[in-house]
Amino acid sequence: MNKYVHGYSEMEANRLSAQADSLANLIHYDSIWEEGSLILEAGCGVGAQTKTVAAQNPKSKFISIDISEDSVREAETLINSKEIKNVEFKVADIFDLPFEDEYFDHIFLCFVLEHLPNPKQALDKLKSKLKLNGTITLIEGDHGSTYFHPDSEYAKKAIQCQVDLQNKSGGDANIGRKIFPILESAGFKGIKVSPRQVYVDDSNPQLVEGFTKNTFTAMIEGVKQEAVSNGLIDEESFERGINDLFKTAMGGGTFCYTFFKGKGIKK
Ligand SMILES: C[S@@+](CC[C@H](N)C(=O)[O-])C[C@H]1O[C@@H](n2cnc3c(N)ncnc32)[C@H](O)[C@@H]1O
Repeated sequence: MNKYVHGYSEMEANRLSAQADSLANLIHYDSIWEEGSLILEAGCGVGAQTKTVAAQNPKSKFISIDISEDSVREAETLINSKEIKNVEFKVADIFDLPFEDEYFDHIFLCFVLEHLPNPKQALDKLKSKLKLNGTITLIEGDHGSTYFHPDSEYAKKAIQCQVDLQNKSGGDANIGRKIFPILESAGFKGIKVSPRQVYVDDSNPQLVEGFTKNTFTAMIEGVKQEAVSNGLIDEESFERGINDLFKTAMGGGTFCYTFFKGKGIKK
């Protein structure tokens, strides 16, 4: 995984937090599990989703893990500051989980598979820790679902740089459309995928700030140095692309992006 997607830097942590806040309703209105469940949140990062899902399920217990110790520490501080009491944090690797088999009632992952070179293997590992009839819930983006007004070839090229760099580091920024086949390949049953489109225009200034500017454009802007140094684009064209993305967040601009939420059952 590359540093720009990790949540290790303060800027990235702020971006993940802006993303989670602006999207909480859209992606989490149905992130509800039956009371008394034991839920594994894999790849919790700085706790940007944890604070929503744990608060929405006060009678269930979460074990939230991440491979980054710094992120786990930050997530713990955030959850304590909100006086949320039903989360236990652990530094752990999805590929080497320190739990018995068939331990969890449910598993939840958000924006994690898109960074892994082997998402099916990750699901295999996670599935072994899931009880029979337990469910897995995945949320992923798909950069191919991005369109906006005013349209711009430069903005599209800048976005493609992020897609190419994520591919280069073994990830897949267009993974959202593949959630169904990936869950199927890992043997999950009863799979349902629900696309969640974010549509932003001037009528919702909070989403203009929280999503178009501070989530999406900030993410693309974050790969500038790497894109230029890898020869994917010249600096001027990249900056023009970012500038054009900002235009979609100005008067009269609109922006669309689709997240995909998938659920499967272990049978
Ligand atoms: C883009 S962040 C998403 C964080 C959080 N789920 C969110 O939505 O804000 C991806 C997270 O996956 C974690 N991660 C990557 N590979 C991992 C692995 N093998 N085991 C555990 N966590 C991992 C990273 O450290 C990072 O915190």
